Amino acid sequence: MSEAGDSRRNSIELIGAKAGTAMPAEMRQALNLRGLVPTSIENFSKQELRAYQQLMSKSTNLEKYEFLAGLRCLNVNLFFRLLLNHFRDIVPLIYTPTVGEACLSYSHIYPFLYPFRMSVGLFITLDDTDCIDTVIENYRRSMPEPIDPEITVITDGSRILGLGDLGVNGMGIPIGKLQLYTAAAGLNPSRTLPIVLDFGTNNERYLNDPLYLGTRERRPDDKRFYEAAGRVISALHYAFPGLLIQFEDFSTEHALGLLDQWRKRTMCFNDDIQGTGCVILAGFISAVEQAGIPPQTQRILFFGAGAAASGVAKQLVDYFVIEHKIPEQQAKAMFWFVDSRGLITTNRGDTLPKHKDVFARHDNGDTQCRSIEEAIEYVKPTALIGLSTVHNAFTEKILTRMSDLNQQGRPIVFPLSNPETKAECTFEEAMRCTGNRVLFASGTAFPEYTIPETCEVCVPGQGNNMFAFPAIGLGSVLCKPTYITDSMIFAVAKALVNSRNEEEKACGELYPRIERIRDVSAELAAAFVTQAVSEGLVKEKHWVDVVNANMPENSLPGRVDGLFSRRVLGEVKTLMWLPAASVEQYIVEAITTINPDDT
Ligand code: NAI
Repeated sequence: MSEAGDSRRNSIELIGAKAGTAMPAEMRQALNLRGLVPTSIENFSKQELRAYQQLMSKSTNLEKYEFLAGLRCLNVNLFFRLLLNHFRDIVPLIYTPTVGEACLSYSHIYPFLYPFRMSVGLFITLDDTDCIDTVIENYRRSMPEPIDPEITVITDGSRILGLGDLGVNGMGIPIGKLQLYTAAAGLNPSRTLPIVLDFGTNNERYLNDPLYLGTRERRPDDKRFYEAAGRVISALHYAFPGLLIQFEDFSTEHALGLLDQWRKRTMCFNDDIQGTGCVILAGFISAVEQAGIPPQTQRILFFGAGAAASGVAKQLVDYFVIEHKIPEQQAKAMFWFVDSRGLITTNRGDTLPKHKDVFARHDNGDTQCRSIEEAIEYVKPTALIGLSTVHNAFTEKILTRMSDLNQQGRPIVFPLSNPETKAECTFEEAMRCTGNRVLFASGTAFPEYTIPETCEVCVPGQGNNMFAFPAIGLGSVLCKPTYITDSMIFAVAKALVNSRNEEEKACGELYPRIERIRDVSAELAAAFVTQAVSEGLVKEKHWVDVVNANMPENSLPGRVDGLFSRRVLGEVKTLMWLPAASVEQYIVEAITTINPDDT
């Protein structure tokens, strides 16, 4: 057979293998499969039914994770059909909380998840960074399809979820997260690239684990880290112009450092910092709108003053400054912080790190509060935000007091610490103690609460990053801004507030329902693109023309409002990837991707 013939047959085999039991008769004949495979020719729905039954037959979440990882390798189309049709059930199996469990033992299960030579992403060691171009070339060659990635999620495994330094085992996170980009916002799965920077680990458990698959060395110092990470980012930027880089689960200092270094040099963002801030800001804006007291009179008490609290507080201050035209110093004065030593003041007798000093009170005179209870009596807050990792810190007494203090309006209570075992209170507790008046958002997913007297079912708000990062990813990949600005993220937050439908608003929900994630992501991406064009950072002529010719009604020049036109939304929607609905459609799409000349 000629080379062209070989390549054609290889393509048919590849496409056929992925169609599985749905492979049509002609294809079976062309591949001489008579007698080699079961006779029944199925449709995609039947395949999906079988896959779902198999998934449900597994007894632990980790087994389900392993099954889904295998399915993703065998049949991408089926995997995403299953995921999209059972979104609420399957997301916790491919991402938090199950992915955490999988990462903890990744080195032990990895060879059973994927065939050894299958390229699931890039594992880049410090030594590899000296020949990074070869690594990238190897990646290109390993791809069955001649297309460049358009998004990468990159981690060094140093701060995986709340689990600490997992080294190379952190690879589960970029893989899982990119699956969510595809499911929630329609990024093409064959154009996603998970990367782990395998720069060592300081975790003794893994350094001593004979089955650990990563570099068995301690992590490098900051200088070496930034040099090596910089080499990787520059090489990616050069090899794949227009690639979006999402930083994920780096230790706080490196997360801030990398973002600072790269945010204006390439298209990148950090989900832990910007995505989280965006989603919590959106929930907070919705809450303030419903609280029944003027925004200027909000008094916000943070319990916990670590990395997350300072990031979130900064976003909220920006909101009061931008939206309500409150001068920055005045906006800052609306915030109080409690850490493990009590209310943070300039005269409590300790030296404060920079991120705490920014918000330290100096108007407290001789008053010092040593506990959250004392701080509540002193501040009389309208909003209580928990980012402390202290489980059950918002006791019944505290929640009841929040209710009493806010009889004129509705109290805002956001217990944001993750996972559930660290949450400051549950939705049920917050509802019961506030006479069901609380405006609530949590980090973890709590069950709905039925009010016993009325049987009304209330849905808790969850500050889930999944509302923001897929849309930021989609918007960036479509219009390719030179870099991503804070205002683009702010526009996404505003669009998230606006995306709630009438029913969700009537029920007082702070976020849209997760089942509508694809529609919501499309709207948020349209807002992102519109904002990016209005900032003059988009070079793609098509998007510049479409946005400028269809400016959204009601938008005011210079204002970041998260609005977009129907036309832009329509275009975004048509460009979102969906798994093929039928085998015929699948084959046409697969042939077009593998051999564009065959069309
Ligand atoms: P961190 O360790 O930097 O900060 C924790 C803060 O809580 C520190 O200021 C500490 O002094 C304070 N704290 C600890 N024990 C305390 C006590 N007994 N009383 C008063 N204050 C106490 O941690 P980080 O990164 O700020 O994260 C905090 C929590 O926020 C974590 O549980 C994390 O999962 C969660 N988080 C949730 C997000 C969401 O989207 N819901 C996003 C980011 C973080």
